[in-house]
Amino acid sequence: MGQGQSGLILARGAMGRTLTFLGIESSCDDTAAAVVRRHADGRAEVLSSQVEGQSALHAAFGGVVPEIAARAHAERLDHCVERALAEAGLTLADLDAVAVTAGPGLIGGVLSGVMLAKGIAAATGLPLLGVNHLAGHALTPRLTDGVSFPYLMLLVSGGHCQFLIVRAADQFERLGGTIDDAPGEAFDKVAKLLALPQPGGPWVEAEALKGDAKRFALPRPLLDRAGCDMSFSGLKTAVLRARDGVIAVKGGITVQDRADLCAGFQAAVAAVLAEKTRRALEVYLALSPDVPTLAVAGGVAANAAIRGALQGVCEGLGVTFTAPPLRLCTDNAAMIAWAGIERHLTGGTVEADLTARPRWPLDSAAAPLIGSGKKGAKG
Ligand code: KG4
Ligand code: ZN
Repeated sequence: MGQGQSGLILARGAMGRTLTFLGIESSCDDTAAAVVRRHADGRAEVLSSQVEGQSALHAAFGGVVPEIAARAHAERLDHCVERALAEAGLTLADLDAVAVTAGPGLIGGVLSGVMLAKGIAAATGLPLLGVNHLAGHALTPRLTDGVSFPYLMLLVSGGHCQFLIVRAADQFERLGGTIDDAPGEAFDKVAKLLALPQPGGPWVEAEALKGDAKRFALPRPLLDRAGCDMSFSGLKTAVLRARDGVIAVKGGITVQDRADLCAGFQAAVAAVLAEKTRRALEVYLALSPDVPTLAVAGGVAANAAIRGALQGVCEGLGVTFTAPPLRLCTDNAAMIAWAGIERHLTGGTVEADLTARPRWPLDSAAAPLIGSGKKGAKG
C-alpha cells in the first residue's frame, strides 16, 4: 500500500521495489481500467487490462457524441475497475497508486475518470497521479518492449497524428503532426463516402487489396512543404471528387471502382507517412541514439500497407521498427498505469488538486495543433 494520504508522493525508497499501479482511461470512447506491475528488476507486467468500447452507442451518429460518451464512462468505469482488479487477482489494498488520464480528450469523459480516481484515492489513501493520454501512448513501447530513450514515436490513430522524440518519461519533442484530420479519421470518412461500415480503416484496407492504386491520381498533401507536418483532409476531399467523377459518367460506382479508390487513398496515406517518417528520422538520428528505434502506436498502425511502408523506410536507414501489440496500441488503461509508474520514477508528484484538461500538449514548446478531430482535441 502507498503512503496514507493523497497529496504525498510515493515513498522515494520505492525506486527499486515492485510497484503496482491501477490505470484508468476514459478520454474518448473506450472505458478502460488496468493493473500494471513494475518488478524490482525493472521488468513490466500487465496484470490485467479491461477495455469496454462504446462504438455501438455512437454508431447511429457517425462519430463520437461527447455527452453520450461521458455518461457511459460514468456508468461503466467502476465496473471496469472491479473487473481489472479481479482479473489481476488483487484488491485495492494491493496497489501502490492510482494513475488516471487527466487529458487531453473529451472533457466529460476525462472528468468521469478523474472523479472516480479521486474517489478511490480519498477512500483508500492511495496516491493519485494525473497522466497525459498521449504520454501513455508514447511510453507504451517501454512497457511492451523495454525500448530505451531516446526513440522516435509516430502516433497514428483516429484522433492523433504526430511525431515525437521521446527523450525521457517526461521529455517529449514534437517534430510535426497533422494540421487537420488524423489518418484514421480520414480512413473513416473515406469509408463513409464509399458506403463501407465504421470504423472504416480495416474495411478500406480490405477493399484496397483488390484495387489498382494507380488508377486515380490522388494528391500527396504537404510533401512539397519542408518538415514533418501532415494534412489528410484534402486527400479525403480528393477521393470524394474522384468518386463523383465516376458517378457523373456511369451513374454510380462499381465494386471495382470502390476498390480502386480505396487502394489509391491508402497508397497516398502510406506515401505521405513514409516520407514524413523519413524526415523525422533524419532529425532524430542526428541525436546519435545507441539503438535507433521507430515505434508506432494507434489503430492505423494495424494497416499492413502503412506498416510495410514505414518498415521499408526504417530498413533503409538502419533503424529498428517496433509496434506494440494492437490491444496496447489502441486506447487502453495499461498504458496509463505504466505512464504513471514512469512518471513516479522520474520524480512526478501526486496532485491532490488534479484537474481534467481538454487540451494538454506533450511538448509545450511546439506550435499548437490546429483543429480537434471527431474524437476531441489532438493535444
Ligand atoms: O487508436 P484507435 O483505436 O483509437 C483512437 O483513434 O484513439 O484508432 C482507431 C482508428 C480508426 O479511425 C480506425 O479506422 C483506424 O484506427 N484503423 C485503421 C485500421 N484499423 C483501425 N486504419 C487503417 N487501416 C487499418 N487496418
Ligand atoms: Zn489515444
